[in-house]
Amino acid sequence: MAEVKYYLGENIPLEMHKVRIVQKLNLIPVEQRLDAITKAGNNTFLLKNRDVFLDMLTDSGVNAMSDKQLAAMMEADDSYAGSETYTKLENKVKEIFGKEYFLPAHQGRACEHIISKAYVKPGSVVPMNYHFTTTKAHIVLQGGTVEEILLDEGLKVTSDYPFKGNIDIGKFRSLIAKHGADNIPYIRLEAGTNLIGGQPSSLENMKEVRKVCDEFGIMLVYDASLLADNLYFIKEREEACKDMSLREITRAISDMSDIIYFSARKLGCARGGGIITDSKKAYETMREMITLYEGFLTYGGMSVREIEALTVGLEETMDENMVNQGPQFIKFMVEELEKRGVPVVTPPGGLGCHIDAKRFLDHVPQNQYPAGALASAFFIASGVRGMERGTISEARDEQGNETYANVELLRLALPRRVFTLSQVKYSVDRLCWLYENRKLVEGLTFTEEPKILRFFFGKLKPISDWQNKLVAKFREDFGQGL
Ligand code: F0G
Repeated sequence: MAEVKYYLGENIPLEMHKVRIVQKLNLIPVEQRLDAITKAGNNTFLLKNRDVFLDMLTDSGVNAMSDKQLAAMMEADDSYAGSETYTKLENKVKEIFGKEYFLPAHQGRACEHIISKAYVKPGSVVPMNYHFTTTKAHIVLQGGTVEEILLDEGLKVTSDYPFKGNIDIGKFRSLIAKHGADNIPYIRLEAGTNLIGGQPSSLENMKEVRKVCDEFGIMLVYDASLLADNLYFIKEREEACKDMSLREITRAISDMSDIIYFSARKLGCARGGGIITDSKKAYETMREMITLYEGFLTYGGMSVREIEALTVGLEETMDENMVNQGPQFIKFMVEELEKRGVPVVTPPGGLGCHIDAKRFLDHVPQNQYPAGALASAFFIASGVRGMERGTISEARDEQGNETYANVELLRLALPRRVFTLSQVKYSVDRLCWLYENRKLVEGLTFTEEPKILRFFFGKLKPISDWQNKLVAKFREDFGQGL
């Protein structure tokens, strides 16, 4: 991987792209930020973008696109059936993943809907390194359950283990012994394990998973949404792979997967998704659901412009200087915070910088949602929009009790090639200020709580007037500054 050494010894990431189109940003005063987050029910999903300074909610559909992607969008062939644009994508998928069949879908969760509908039935158990919100919701909707069989190390917030997303093979075997292989339609391996901080899994671990799958006849489904980051980490951290190209690593992953699916809002820096397989049977099982729920087989709910962008985006994902930007910026941010004592997930992963809200707000109990409170407080302090990835992102059990999340994180996503290093430094600065003033921050309580995926539209209020105190302290420390 291209490595640049600095004469002055500074160790900062260097962008291998230049900015050619910009979007103006707006940073509103702290009082207005409090007003905006109050109107949003302390849920950063409900903020209006016009009130947001740096949008670190997600990398989904908001990665910067390249000049080549935009150029390709201009020559999209718009036809319902047999579009030339679709053929380009199909060929690119075949070339990169080396599998015969591709089914297009409008985004990642649409693939999850179809795979779950095809393979999960009441009583099914689906093991995985870790769940993702929409993945679990679709499996549960079909009457199945999710079992997380991540290495114990994966849930240690601070660690130096390079592959915290790895599957614990012992746990996998025990699960098979307990439920029987017949009740396990597939195991799901998620690249760049999202909810534990964008942590990768190794190729070596996947090989071991594959062996067990072969022994018991269990399918391996690979969620490649965060493949780009995972490829980077395999190349960087896995000794045996350091001389492999990203293309070779991708092919090795693909060869071990029965089904691959992805959100093209992440992988390929476009908007869409798809399912890839070599199995004619799997293809035929899922094909009609694509036409039923997504669209005809030559677009699957995607616009042809996005399909063009995705085709180019997949090719660009094979470029080391493209995929390294995200993880290198994240590493910088994590290390700057760690140096100053702010609790973060380590080692640095992909997707974004993850703040450990359990330690940051160790005085806020889990039933007052420390990660949600931190997301709200950080928006007030900075105008930066992060995402709660803790108990609010879980669902209550059948009796209505809270299911406390294993980890309470504030995720600050760094969409690829979007933010500059000074914007990252601003975020670090405000996080340090907030950490210094953390005792002012208290918890939240629901005022509106939807049953399904409550984190998307739920509304909360502070348990006291702590937010006003935080604003007052901000003014005291920063005067009239923003
Ligand atoms: N799988 C993973 C690992 C994801 O991170 C996501 C989405 C999906 C599947 C679903 O894909 O959004 O296209 O329907 N993650 C987004 C995020 C929402 O913000 O992390 P989708």
